[in-house]
Amino acid sequence: MGIEEITGRVARDLEHLKQFTATPGDGCTRLPFTPEARDAVNYLRSIMEEAGLEVREDAAGNIIGVLRGEDSEAPCVMMGSHYDSVYNGGDFDGIAGAVCAVEVARQLKESGITPKRDFVAVGFCDEEGMRFGTGYFGSGAMLGNRDVEYCKKFKDTDGISIYDAMKGYGLDPEKIEDAKWDISRIGEFLEAHIEQGPVLDAENIELGLVDCIVGIQRYMVTVHGRADHAGTTPMDMRMDAVDAATKVISKIPDWAREKADGTVATTGFIRTTPGGMNIVAEKVEFTVDIRSRNNDNINDITNRIRAALDKEVKAMGGSYEMENKLTITPVELSQKMLGIMEEKCKERGYSYKRILSGAGHDALEIGQVIPTVMLFAPSKDGRSHCPVEFTKYSDFAKASVIMAELAKELLA
Ligand code: HGY
Ligand code: MN
Ligand code: MN
Repeated sequence: MGIEEITGRVARDLEHLKQFTATPGDGCTRLPFTPEARDAVNYLRSIMEEAGLEVREDAAGNIIGVLRGEDSEAPCVMMGSHYDSVYNGGDFDGIAGAVCAVEVARQLKESGITPKRDFVAVGFCDEEGMRFGTGYFGSGAMLGNRDVEYCKKFKDTDGISIYDAMKGYGLDPEKIEDAKWDISRIGEFLEAHIEQGPVLDAENIELGLVDCIVGIQRYMVTVHGRADHAGTTPMDMRMDAVDAATKVISKIPDWAREKADGTVATTGFIRTTPGGMNIVAEKVEFTVDIRSRNNDNINDITNRIRAALDKEVKAMGGSYEMENKLTITPVELSQKMLGIMEEKCKERGYSYKRILSGAGHDALEIGQVIPTVMLFAPSKDGRSHCPVEFTKYSDFAKASVIMAELAKELLA
């Protein structure tokens, strides 16, 4: 199958999938356990079945397609990415990697070779953590890192728990641990994804061979003050939650910049309660997302945030909570598989470079315990997590060809 036909297949699938959004005309909003997620899963199921895979949806909402090898008892080669998105995101983040996994299965079938081991294509549920502030739900469940207590603990901003959202979606959260694999059954994990940054596009390079994925810590901070009249309450009598919270929030970016090694920190969500312009804020909630290749930097910034909250909230006379939503350490990816992909890129004449991933991925979760590799396609102008996110379908086709070559070598 030539690169043109492969590009056509990838384009067909991604063009079809982009309609499954809660915000048509304003980017892709496909949150877990929603009708849009169900539509995307149904389509992934249909192309997996069309490719001749044995398909099932697991207890966590992952859609799994198996291309049987000679020995199904041997550890499989697994490839996949997530089908959920951020709010008003792009049409490629995650879902393109899930389609690439199915495309690799198609190419393996077309090669006529029976793989020695199973090849497993996966569309993962809730990698982003956008709805519940967490992340890596489907891949984490596959590793046995999600249980009923976890599903009951985390809620979205409407107060709906993962547990209740799963029930509304048709899954039984009491059975979440059925999604767990014996990790000795997974030999290697591969993920194709968009870069979501500016490097490949700026240097006009076709593929990024990811050698490391940053670690991430995420928190929801709640600062409690006291609601008062904005006009009659003297400044020295207030317990203004915004006053205390903003003194902390404003310092966080500089603490990341000071590291001067690519460490980043972001406050993407802030909400005041009751939220009236003439009411001193009783409560402020804000998120923190800290990432670095150096885990000590993440811990240092987390500790500085906690110390600043102690100081500023105490001075304001209120209280605070700092809820940990995610902690995951940086992961170095498989040099063996990177080397194989490098050889295949040379053979095909595709330009490539080794690259760090500043974005987390299902590969970050699975790479903690399984030999893992990622392959990036360029993001136009480095934009992602927004409606203008764009990657050429032909770039995904090239990524799928290299990943298929890698899979063939692993499955020989
Ligand atoms: O947030 C991330 O790094 C990824 O897009 N989940
Ligand atoms: Mn993303
Ligand atoms: Mn992603």
